[in-house]
Amino acid sequence: MELQSLKDIAKQMMAGNKGLLAMDESVSTCNKRFAALNIPQTEEYRRKYRELIVTTPKLEEAISGAILFDETIRQSTADGKMFIEILKEKGIIPGIKVDEGAISMDGFPDEKITEGLDNLHKRLAEYYKLGARFAKWRAVMTIGNGTPTSGSIKANAFLLARYAAICQEAGIVPIVEPEVLMDGSHSLKTCADVTNEVLHTVFNQLYQQRVNFEGMILKPNMIVPGLESLQQDGADAVADATISCFLRCVPASVPGIAFLSGGQSPELASERLNAMHVRFRDKMPWALTFSYSRAVQQPCLEKWDGKDENVAEAQRLLYERAHINTIARDGKYTP
Ligand code: 13P
Repeated sequence: MELQSLKDIAKQMMAGNKGLLAMDESVSTCNKRFAALNIPQTEEYRRKYRELIVTTPKLEEAISGAILFDETIRQSTADGKMFIEILKEKGIIPGIKVDEGAISMDGFPDEKITEGLDNLHKRLAEYYKLGARFAKWRAVMTIGNGTPTSGSIKANAFLLARYAAICQEAGIVPIVEPEVLMDGSHSLKTCADVTNEVLHTVFNQLYQQRVNFEGMILKPNMIVPGLESLQQDGADAVADATISCFLRCVPASVPGIAFLSGGQSPELASERLNAMHVRFRDKMPWALTFSYSRAVQQPCLEKWDGKDENVAEAQRLLYERAHINTIARDGKYTP
């Protein structure tokens, strides 16, 4: 596949001050979020909710690409229009989650390995036909007693790199997502050390597997203290730790970095993205934006609550949260 077309897609994904919307929760993750609010966990309710998202007025002003899940890419509005068509009409590039989830890693207690390489060529060819132009694969690493081990980091990095190589061959831009989870009582410094190791390993594997850095997007965690850490550092410290690490680990030829939110509150996710732009505006070789799920969707989901009469207000909240992150990308957000 032409490198130029991968570069063009990646450039559009990172355009202006927009970001990506992760709406690719698997059936089980989506059901978990619904269950917490007592929303019925059925295919029809998942469809209704995704219809609410894709038909949100002005969404395209803040969102350049939306990551879908296999169920969602095949779904339509109540009027019978495919979601993917609506996105394309709005100029939002459709993307697709292609990993099949993280399972326990044999021989490595408390660690996970991501599945999904089987038949990936074939699945990507079908998704391309449906209109997807980028994909996502998430690896998860937990900071704990002796974890993550170098064995699990290497195995996850190798799989991310094979996935990325296969995507590029299929004309699809890979989003490479190695997530170091926020769970735990570790310090900001520990998160920085682990993320540094993970990113070096991932880029080494990407190089070994001949992935073109110009035709991929990195979706990393921010460097933050563990959720249970007693020292919760401010946005400036998070910004400094995160960007210093990326400047060491992420090649300048990577066109864009788009953060996951990982369980941060919507406000913190915006504030921290903003601080990175305020403090490093002219020092970053890559575009830096958001690819949040929870930090953009949560207020909208809570307002919707499974009820048709709440759709318009829920859509307003979705747009508002996405829009705030475009302001943060400009470094002009005030909490
Ligand atoms: P969160 O922003 O909720 O972490 O989700 C992003 C994502 O795509 C996880 O794979």
